[in-house]
Amino acid sequence: MVKNSLWKRILFGYITIVVCMMVMSFYLIYRLNYLNKVTDSIMRADIPFIENGEKLVDCLLEQVRNEKKYLITHDNAFLDLFDQKKREFLERLKYLEESVTYRKKDEAIQQTRELHKKYLSMVSKEIILMGKDEVIPPDTRYEEEKKKTLDQLTQSINKLILVTQTELIKKIGLFQQIGYKSTRISLIIILFAVLFGAIFGYFFTRSICSPIKILKDATEHIAHGDLDHRIEVTSNDEIGTLGMAFNQMCNKLKEMDQMKTDFVSNVSHNLKTPLTVIREANDLLLEKIAGPVSDAQIKLLNITKEETIRLTMMINDLLDISRIEAGLMRYNFQYASIQDIIQKSTDEIRFLAESKNIHIRWSKGGDISKVLLDREKIAQVMDNLLSNAIKFTPSGGRITVTVNEADFKTVPQFFAEESRLNNVHSFVQVSISDTGIGIPVECHKKIFDKFQQVNNKGKGGMKGTGLGLSIVKHIILDHGGDIWVESNMGQGSVFRFTLPFRYDYVLQS
Ligand SMILES: Nc1ncnc2c1ncn2[C@@H]1O[C@H](COP(=O)(O)OP(=O)(O)OP(=O)(O)O)[C@@H](O)[C@H]1O
Ligand SMILES: [Mg+2]
Repeated sequence: MVKNSLWKRILFGYITIVVCMMVMSFYLIYRLNYLNKVTDSIMRADIPFIENGEKLVDCLLEQVRNEKKYLITHDNAFLDLFDQKKREFLERLKYLEESVTYRKKDEAIQQTRELHKKYLSMVSKEIILMGKDEVIPPDTRYEEEKKKTLDQLTQSINKLILVTQTELIKKIGLFQQIGYKSTRISLIIILFAVLFGAIFGYFFTRSICSPIKILKDATEHIAHGDLDHRIEVTSNDEIGTLGMAFNQMCNKLKEMDQMKTDFVSNVSHNLKTPLTVIREANDLLLEKIAGPVSDAQIKLLNITKEETIRLTMMINDLLDISRIEAGLMRYNFQYASIQDIIQKSTDEIRFLAESKNIHIRWSKGGDISKVLLDREKIAQVMDNLLSNAIKFTPSGGRITVTVNEADFKTVPQFFAEESRLNNVHSFVQVSISDTGIGIPVECHKKIFDKFQQVNNKGKGGMKGTGLGLSIVKHIILDHGGDIWVESNMGQGSVFRFTLPFRYDYVLQS
């Protein structure tokens, strides 16, 4: 069973963010609803209440004005107007009474009603007296009482308006508070969602990217032929399963590679004996021990001899590579002069070079200290590099071999990365340069792998298996040195290898 699978983690992240957004939305809807209710109550109750209150004052003033005019002019039109305003006043007061929700306001309305009643009774008393044609004695106490009643009435109405305005201001304050609070809470929820999204996103991406990077690195190792590379599976999610499948694939590849190596090694080994017999029989025929041979037959026998030699060399290369891969290559290390080895190799191959009209230049230079090496193997390296140079250099070309002492700074970074030079700082460096066809830059590393040949194979009249440089590289690495090529298409090649003077490196298995 796959635990903590990726999809579960993705689902958890999305659900958390969606829940945050839903909580915020519901909270905002609830708050907006409440605000709507407050606005509604302001629009429907408070504002009309204040308007009516203000009109109540106007009505009262109209009543007083018409009452006074009537008392002076005795004109009934003013009495009618007074009556009209009185009715309007009472209607408005009734409306206020019906829409009241608050005890303090109710008290103020009752007080207004009482005072208005008192005022009306005082006015009607005056009117009755006036109807009887009685002269109203100028009574200052009565006048004062009426004035006081009117003042109290105006105050009472104003108090009503003030209480409603205070209520309204309170509601607007509440409105503002709710607005601020909702913004704050929404911001907190958004911040939490963003923070959660960022942290979750970071860890989630990392939990995917780092194993993918490990997988990518491991794939590169495999692509470069390191079939022993495995990855450590730490999680049991889809990526962990992928890692396990990758390791299984590597095991299978390794198994197949081993089978192939064993097969090549067995076949090569089994071919060696019959090939030796063919060569010896061929030699006997050529030496005419088995009887006379015609010139045409000698020609054919010489071709067979050449091809069997080539086949033997190929089989030797295959056996060498099998030995190297099985870790069975044996070295006979001893202090020797690298210059002597180069001298011998160049002397031996000069004949072949001259047959192709290629000039070999070997400048021995000054005396160089002896190096701990296997003479035969380093000679094999030289033979391989020189024969490659001859093979890939057209007629009339030139091959130059130089040797000098060098330090680690001379090794190009590209190759130094893989080098096992450890704390070795001084070397002898051998360079074999030719004026041949050159090697494209993208193949500089690849040609040191087995069976790797650039598209120029066969040029120069010689075919190969693509094993030479692979063997050469193994031998040099086993000596603690390094080998690389500097070349460009059509501009010749320089193969350089180094061998350490001090032999204190650790051999890697
Ligand atoms: N001096 C050179 N100039 C141009 N190309 C070269 C040179 N040396 C090597 N190469 C390229 O590198 C390839 C690999 O060389 P390597 O010696 O491993 O194989 P080979 O010479 O083709 O075969 P083998 O050495 O097994 O007979 C060659 O096929 C060739 O394409
Ligand atoms: Mg070769």
